Amino acid sequence: MTSLNLFSPIQIRGMALKNRIVVSPMQQFSAVNGKVGHWHMVHLGSRAVGGAGLIITESLAVNKEGRSTHYDAGLWNDGQIAGWRTINKFIHEQGAKTAAQIAHFGSKASRSHPNDGLQYLTPENGGWQTKSSSAVAPFNNMSLPRELSIRDINKIKKDFLTAALRAVSAGFDAIELHAGHGYLFHQFYSNIINHRKDQYGGSFENRIRLLIETARGIRDLIPQTMPLMIRISAVDYIEEENAWKIEDSIVLAGILKQIGVDLITASAGGFVFLDKSRVFPSYQVPFAEKIKTETGILTGAVGAITEAQQANDIIASGKADLAIIAREFLRDPYFPLHAAKTLGEAAPIPFQYKRAF
Ligand SMILES: Cc1cc2nc3c(=O)[nH]c(=O)nc-3n(C[C@H](O)[C@H](O)[C@H](O)COP(=O)(O)O)c2cc1C
Repeated sequence: MTSLNLFSPIQIRGMALKNRIVVSPMQQFSAVNGKVGHWHMVHLGSRAVGGAGLIITESLAVNKEGRSTHYDAGLWNDGQIAGWRTINKFIHEQGAKTAAQIAHFGSKASRSHPNDGLQYLTPENGGWQTKSSSAVAPFNNMSLPRELSIRDINKIKKDFLTAALRAVSAGFDAIELHAGHGYLFHQFYSNIINHRKDQYGGSFENRIRLLIETARGIRDLIPQTMPLMIRISAVDYIEEENAWKIEDSIVLAGILKQIGVDLITASAGGFVFLDKSRVFPSYQVPFAEKIKTETGILTGAVGAITEAQQANDIIASGKADLAIIAREFLRDPYFPLHAAKTLGEAAPIPFQYKRAF
């Protein structure tokens, strides 16, 4: 039996990754009318040159209401496809794969640019009326959302499906639904926000309905060979009886696996500011491990993974299948090249850079 490590290839449906190192989705707030440009090409392209196996895009809004800011990238119209085609082509030429993360921010939409503090904007201040499962603000400095009607919910499901088709057309290798971090899907599956009385609220089955229906719809629509991944918040990090817990995530992951979802990224939180004492190296890895062990679905570990040996241990110990890295990739686009050297693996050095490594 050969042991796995960070540089072991992995096959997920028709997508073959050359290693287990993944660029985590990171919003750049640099799009114009939802379109990506030179910044995105250089930013994502550099990480492909740096040797990442898979690059997941920042959250791409499925409609304008679902954006977090005016500067979000999106897939809500056909004009937004071409920019991604060029970026995907370049990334593929470097031997890496790409996944489109599609998202709706629900009540966490309508904020200012990070340079203006990511403040929640009312319609009077240049924002727009947000909507959510219920008229409940996830944080108290936010404007109150309106409750989505069944008609609104059906429209959002449709927007996710259309965005997924645009991602296929843009040449992505996989699709990831963003169902964590206190955004729309999470606003439905967590009791903390969802106070609905209809078929989308109340019981566990009702609260996960929107996510299940959307995932099933996308699975049926995209090519059989294309992986569907989902990022969830494995826990709410709220000490209340009715908060979302790891046990809930395990049941959810089992159902998602049954309907053809290929991989779960186990992130966490979204409705509370996390105390610094709870964030330490690999702090969310136990969530990925539990979900993987209990359900057998592939998982991605994310959160405070910064070192080659640390990332390698996560894979070699079988706790997760992918090491998903965000901020360390901002500090070092060549993390995989450096990690290969540290771990004594053959580094995937582009020939143009061979004289330097
Ligand atoms: C600048 C920045 C933007 C982010 N944008 C997204 C996003 O669009 N979608 C998402 O799922 N997570 C997003 N995240 C969260 C990261 O993907 C990751 O889960 C988190 O930063 C923890 O990983 P790290 O410790 O490696 O940074 C973002 C993080 C950063 C630092």
